[in-house]
Amino acid sequence: MRFDDHFLDELKQRLRPSDVIGKSVKLRRQGREYAGLSPFTKEKSPSFFVNDDKGFYHCFSSGKHGDIISYLQETERLTFTEAVERLAAEAGMALPEPDARAAQDDKKRATLTDWMELAAAWFESELRRPVGQAARDYLARRALPEDQWSRFRIGFSPNGRTALKDYLVAKGAKPAELVEAGLLIAPEDGGQPYDRFRDRIIFPITDTRGRVVSFGGRAMDPQARAKYLNGPETTLFHKGRLLYGLYEARKLLHAAQAAAPTEQTPLLVVEGYMDVVACQRAGLPAVAPMGTAMTEEQMEVLWRLHPEPTLSFDGDKAGQRAASRAIDRALPLLKPGRSFKFSIVVGGKDPDDVLREQGPTALKAQLTQTTPFVDALFARERDLEPLDTPERKAGFKQRLRAAAGTIADKDLSAAYRDDLYAKLDALFPKPAFGGGFGDGGGRPFVPRGQWKGGRDRGPPDPGIRGVARAQITTRLNPFHAAVAVAALRHPAWARPYDEAVERVGFGDPRLAPLAIELFEALADEISDDVPFRDILNRKGLGPQLTEAERVAAAISAPFLDPKMEAHQARALWSACYEALIEIADSERALEALRREAVTAGTLAATRDLRTRIAVLERQISGLEFWQAAS
Ligand code: UTP
Ligand code: MN
Repeated sequence: MRFDDHFLDELKQRLRPSDVIGKSVKLRRQGREYAGLSPFTKEKSPSFFVNDDKGFYHCFSSGKHGDIISYLQETERLTFTEAVERLAAEAGMALPEPDARAAQDDKKRATLTDWMELAAAWFESELRRPVGQAARDYLARRALPEDQWSRFRIGFSPNGRTALKDYLVAKGAKPAELVEAGLLIAPEDGGQPYDRFRDRIIFPITDTRGRVVSFGGRAMDPQARAKYLNGPETTLFHKGRLLYGLYEARKLLHAAQAAAPTEQTPLLVVEGYMDVVACQRAGLPAVAPMGTAMTEEQMEVLWRLHPEPTLSFDGDKAGQRAASRAIDRALPLLKPGRSFKFSIVVGGKDPDDVLREQGPTALKAQLTQTTPFVDALFARERDLEPLDTPERKAGFKQRLRAAAGTIADKDLSAAYRDDLYAKLDALFPKPAFGGGFGDGGGRPFVPRGQWKGGRDRGPPDPGIRGVARAQITTRLNPFHAAVAVAALRHPAWARPYDEAVERVGFGDPRLAPLAIELFEALADEISDDVPFRDILNRKGLGPQLTEAERVAAAISAPFLDPKMEAHQARALWSACYEALIEIADSERALEALRREAVTAGTLAATRDLRTRIAVLERQISGLEFWQAAS
């Protein structure tokens, strides 16, 4: 630490908190303190207090509390050092002389920083020279126009073994320095150092002040051993502390907050370099860790910028695993005002794909659809194994309790436990009059109660058009959503079932508007080349499709995986949809039976229908359909 306690005490002695804070908050004297409207919340009556004697502020509406340094950190998003430097200038205090050792380190870092800057500029110019032709073609294929190269300082490292080395040495660099900066690799056998980055698209990595401290390189050659190569740990670059895009993201975040102070601008954490670029192009503040899982230090950095950053993962298995790791790592650190949200990019895409294929509006729509941390945690534990026996249900409850127990903050830990238990109760409600059907659970991704979505509330038998208006409060079932999304992506699959599409839709009234559109399109004999999404967008149903996609992502239905062979995917989808139709029809028949006089005949019919529904549900939840396909 550059500033010792003595210096910091002196600084706080010289500046009155009410003066420092009074610049941004209108303060009124109230006894020994000053009161004003909280700079952290949108309150109407003052609950923010500044006490000069004690040297701190306290905000009752947000619970925040601190001194003038933390005040600037919180309100202006400065780092500790930046805040101290600002205040020292205000107090007319000279910054302490760095000691000799620190001065030497600083000087060395400054030299390395110069070489990094020079290297970045060289990569940028190589991209524009004849040697960069293939790289320019590659960027064109990825739809990244030239004005964006400069914005993100994207460059190209040509294929020579010492192209960069020769250039920098000619400028006066020593090879050893360049090795230390991570630009050259020194062979273990003691041979001559050579360029680390060869034949790669270059993404400069900057520190919190925008200085280049390392590079990431995307291989041009699909055969290359590593698709991405990152600079090593150096005195400038600490992988576990920095995030790619942080400097720009901070600027975007502040600009957005200044433009719309009442809105909560999201801060996104995505998986890759190109995803950061895509998000920032769409105006969304975004960062990414570099080739490693997110560290606790990186989480702290994020929380200094935003109370609830959004962790965005691909909808695939790897993305789910990454999300799960993030949950485990973040849980112990959560506090009031320090959490994460989750968003999933649907259809096996990443943000870069979505921007290119669907544009900035679609990207924003997907990334701002978020799941709270507690829901993501609950879903993860729920989907770990089927909940079809008392032992497994109890095990589930134990997992929930253990997860809540890892939160260090006592109040939050208790709140999590209560909330998770409430969700558990909602998943296994006590049977209503007449009992439920089936065996009471046993579907990992089809929570009880959701199959029965509109059954008790819909009008008698109006077809999907009537049910569409019914008010439903349970969550959309991911299985229903997945079946719907697939049908909307491939109307041809649904063509043989057009009558069922009109009659039962996708088994959930909330999907009825989408089903109606699909049915009408099928009746109009739409061509399969017309992207159905466009039709839905025109009708204003785009958000409903996006929501269905988001919900569907929870189960990674194989028929939505673009990697699955088309005829296989279609067969699997058909089997699922047929089961869904039969369940919906059986539920309607049950409803009709309920209105009839009870006789031996109606009782037997009721029993048969319930058994059939249970069998179908179990088939689906037991993954038999999924397995049959793989
Ligand atoms: P992905 O493999 O998901 O690639 O890696 P991507 O970002 O979609 O890349 P494009 O679109 O094919 O160019 C995600 C991130 O993981 C790190 C990089 O940070 C990358 O952006 N990574 C990936 C590596 O560090 N090394 C690798 O070999 C691959
Ligand atoms: Mn990508």
